[in-house]
Amino acid sequence: MKSRISEKFRTLFGHDGEFFASAGRINLIGEHTDYNGGYVFPGAVDKGIIAEIEPNGSEKVCVYALDLDECVEFGFEEENIPQQSWARYVFGVCREIIKRGGKIGGFNAVFAGDVPIGAGMSSSAALESTFAFALDCLFNLGIDKFELARIGQSTEHNYCGVKCGIMDQFASIFGKKGHLIRLDCKTMEYKYYPFNPEGYRLVLLDSAVKHELASSAYNRRRESCERAAAAIRKNHPEVEFLRDAGKEWLDEVKDVISEEDYRRAEYVIEEVQRVLDVCDALERGDYETVGEKMYETHHGMSRLYEVSCEELDYLNDIAKECGVTGSRVMGGGFGGCTINLVKDGLYDGFISKAKAAFKEKFGHEPKVYDVVISDGARKLE
Ligand code: GLA
Repeated sequence: MKSRISEKFRTLFGHDGEFFASAGRINLIGEHTDYNGGYVFPGAVDKGIIAEIEPNGSEKVCVYALDLDECVEFGFEEENIPQQSWARYVFGVCREIIKRGGKIGGFNAVFAGDVPIGAGMSSSAALESTFAFALDCLFNLGIDKFELARIGQSTEHNYCGVKCGIMDQFASIFGKKGHLIRLDCKTMEYKYYPFNPEGYRLVLLDSAVKHELASSAYNRRRESCERAAAAIRKNHPEVEFLRDAGKEWLDEVKDVISEEDYRRAEYVIEEVQRVLDVCDALERGDYETVGEKMYETHHGMSRLYEVSCEELDYLNDIAKECGVTGSRVMGGGFGGCTINLVKDGLYDGFISKAKAAFKEKFGHEPKVYDVVISDGARKLE
């Protein structure tokens, strides 16, 4: 990928720039908890974005997306927002840096990536993080890593219409080879956990159903949670996020909020606890408990939070039938993939069964990605 980028960069701009990369992410457990101030447990993966970039001394940006064979130019004013959705991520990152007082100039860039789009592995965070990290470095801005992640998140909010939490951008900036990161999204405290489940493999099965994260469904989930938290806050002013409440406090407002908001909040409160349970289990090397919690999450995401779909429920059922230790829909949902914790000895049988059964029912095989936990945003030498 790097050599293809380099070749194109030379053809377009006549010389060489500097290389930066960032990663997509998985999340072992803790879904839709980030914007509720709860815990998440992601890690960066070995699939990401690589960009070659060079300041060009002008006030214009010229970015070429190699995979799409598309070039976009824009200036830094709000009204210069590009049409192409991929370019909005780059534009948004520039705007968010400028809003924070960062002084950047124009630049040329060529980028390419291998994070499957729409699989729920956050290709958009990889793109944002690559550019945020690179611009910080190239223009000596001295932005701290949390702020780099927030720049990506604000890009989603303000230029892409998704009111996402901080998990994806955090994972893609802070990712570390061989480690998952437990993040408390309220305090932003985090801890690296070595992740090397001996005797098990972590594998993603991509339903190839396109998730519509940007679609209002994701934002509506968030609004439900905020309404529930606001209702609880009337009785318990210390509740800033749903994460601060327990089931009992939610039950106090059961008749005040809608039945739907109640279910959404119930899922979130349970999910926050599951992350802590999984971290404890991991420290004991108790993968059976990790797996059980993953199945519980799937059930909650499917029945209470309603972000699963027929294809993902089916993949989850097959995992159960094959004796897979843990399986659940990963990421925002509405399509994308399941993440599966499977014993070495069961791996081959599970994959071939899942492929065949899924194809039989939906007409195509799911894609299979073995998870390799890798580094996040970085400069490449
Ligand atoms: C998307 C969002 C994240 C998070 C997950 C669900 O990936 O970008 O902030 O909310 O969905 O856990």
